[in-house]
This record gives sequence, C-alpha cells and structure tokens, in this order.
Amino acid sequence: MNKVKKTLFSDKTVKLDDKSYIMAIESSCDETACAIVQGGRKVISNVVASQIKTHEQYGGVIPEIAAREHLEAINVVIDKAFKEANLTPDDISAFAGTVGPGLVGCLLVGLNATKTLALVHDKPFIGVNHLNAHVSANFIDTDLKPPFIALLVSGGHTQIIDVKSYSDLEIIGETIDDAVGEAYDKVARLIGLPYPGGPRLDKLAQEGNPYAYELPEAKVGEFDFSFSGLKTATSRLVKKLKEEYGENIPLNDICASFQECVSETLIKKVKHALEVKGYNQVVIAGGVAANSEIRRKVFELEKEGYRVNAPIMKYCTDNASMVASSAFFFDNTFDNIDVEVFSRVKG
Ligand code: KG4
Ligand code: ZN
Repeated sequence: MNKVKKTLFSDKTVKLDDKSYIMAIESSCDETACAIVQGGRKVISNVVASQIKTHEQYGGVIPEIAAREHLEAINVVIDKAFKEANLTPDDISAFAGTVGPGLVGCLLVGLNATKTLALVHDKPFIGVNHLNAHVSANFIDTDLKPPFIALLVSGGHTQIIDVKSYSDLEIIGETIDDAVGEAYDKVARLIGLPYPGGPRLDKLAQEGNPYAYELPEAKVGEFDFSFSGLKTATSRLVKKLKEEYGENIPLNDICASFQECVSETLIKKVKHALEVKGYNQVVIAGGVAANSEIRRKVFELEKEGYRVNAPIMKYCTDNASMVASSAFFFDNTFDNIDVEVFSRVKG
C-alpha cells in the first residue's frame, strides 16, 4: 500500500507507507476521539472522550450539547494522543478527520481541528467517510485485504458492503427504515432500559431464552433490511405480557427473542452475499458489531470455511484509530481543504 499525498501549504509530496504515522480525529456523534496509527494497522495511541454520561439524562444525543462537548474535549484528546504516542506533529505524515455522515455541528469541530493541524504543520489532509472508517477497524492488527463482504451495523446504519478493492466499495444492501442500533435503542427504551440501550439489551438477552417468543423477520430486497416491523411487534408483545404479568414481565426472554430475530436476519443476508459474490472473507463493523450474539453467529461461519474478522470491542464503537486506518487504505476522496461536512450518505 503506497499512497502519495500533497501537503496543504507548500504542495510537497508525501509518500504514505508502512512506517508512516497518520493522526486522525473523530467527532461525528457523541465521542471525541484522536488516534495515531502506523501503516494503517498498528495503533500507537487511541484516545476517546465519551459523552455518554451527559446524554444519558436526556435518553439520547442532543446535537447542540454534543457539539459543545466536542469543543471542550478536542484539544485535550489531541494533546493526550501525542503524549501517549510520545510523538510530535513533525513525526506525523498526514492528518485525517471524519467528514460525514454524522451530526454536522459535531463533525465541524473535529474536521476544523484536523484541517488546522494539517495547515499549521504543512502536512497532507485526508477527509474520511465515517462508514468506511468503521469497516477499516478490521485492518487494525490484522493482515486483511480486499475482496471481502462487510456487515456494517451501527446506530445510524445497517449495510452490506462489497469491498472489491481499496478503491471500490459498493453498498449492495441496506435498511429501508431503522438501523439495527436504532432498533436496539428503541426496544431498550420501551422496556425501560437507560440509554444507550443496545449493550444493556444484549446483556439481558444472554440470560434469556432466544426461542421464548417468535418475532417476525421482514421480507425486503435481496440484501436489504427492515427493522421497524420487528420493533412494532416487540412493542405489542411487551404490551400483551404486561397485561398478563403486570410490571414483572420476563425481560430476559423478550431481549433474547429480539436478539435472535435480529441476528438471524443479519446472518442470513450476509451468507447470501458471500455466496453470490463468491468471497471467502467476511468482516463486521460498527457499534452493534460489539453485540455478543451477532459476533457469535458471524464467527460460526468459520466452520463453513470462511475467514471471519471483527474488530476488538473498543474499535467497534466510534474511535479515531479506524479513521486513521481508513485514511491509509481507502480512497476516501475528501482530500481537499474545502471539503464540507455532511450529515447523510449522498446519492
Ligand atoms: O457505531 P456507533 O458507536 O455509533 C454510530 O452509530 O455511528 O454505534 C452505536 C450503536 C448504539 O445504537 C448502541 O446501542 C449500539 O451501537 N451498540 C450495541 C451494542 N454495543 C453498542 N447494540 C447491541 N449490542 C451491543 N452489545
Ligand atoms: Zn459510528
């Protein structure tokens, strides 16, 4: 992997190779993160300031509050990332930052910091797509190379991506309504779990019977998903059980049945994509890739001869190491200083 980039101020050429350090910043939602990664795979420092405590009291992320918290945290995480790595800006080959999709006020904070660092230190600037970054978490500490199928499951997105090469990623399927993480968070709220509900629902599910209640799988396009029907069905089930049991409903069984339905749906489509594309490698990415049952089911594909990879937990949820890795491997095509943040995937 050898990329050539131009510095912002003097237009000098910088070659990115296995020895190069990329510093990256991530601020698309409720984590302010900065990391330094060498050669796209070796994490030198990884700093994450989470805002979960702040948003917990509102039951979700309030964009304006999130943007202000990013402003407070951004310099702290940058300083910490340099200190932990024992490096200075002179050692950095390029500065990368998340351009979108995400909350625009939040993205602006991180992206402006990235552009400023690149300008002041006269280094290349690399703008990164947040979704490509999640996929790239799979390059960390591995020797993974395309082609492979990526299942991206986060709070805002659910996609099956055909990663044909470093420069050719095609979204072949996605959700037509709720993202998986969104469905987890909504169902969690429905049963009274605090924000963020996903991990908590996962925990309860591990204690329950996945076959206690049958929940519906949506019938949509070949590689597409729909989770809003499942959410409604779960809500109806909860209502019915409350009539029967009062407030003492069998939470573990409800969570386990919901988790079974979601994970089965995801795995079926992933398997189908692998068969259609004829690949032998599959990766999972995004915050929901931290889910115990989804991980277990994906890794079961190893028994069928597939090579499976999932990032370790801290690289599944939002972090900046994955952004640095994406800047190194993928052609993110946002390398212009004039690039603007965006909230949703275009096109
Ligand atoms: O990728 P991410 O950190 O943020 C973006 O959406 O970009 O993903 C956050 C989502 C939240 O919806 C959270 O509830 C969910 O990932 N999540 C989980 C688990 N851990 C995080 N959902 C289910 N099971 C988990 N273990
Ligand atoms: Zn994310």
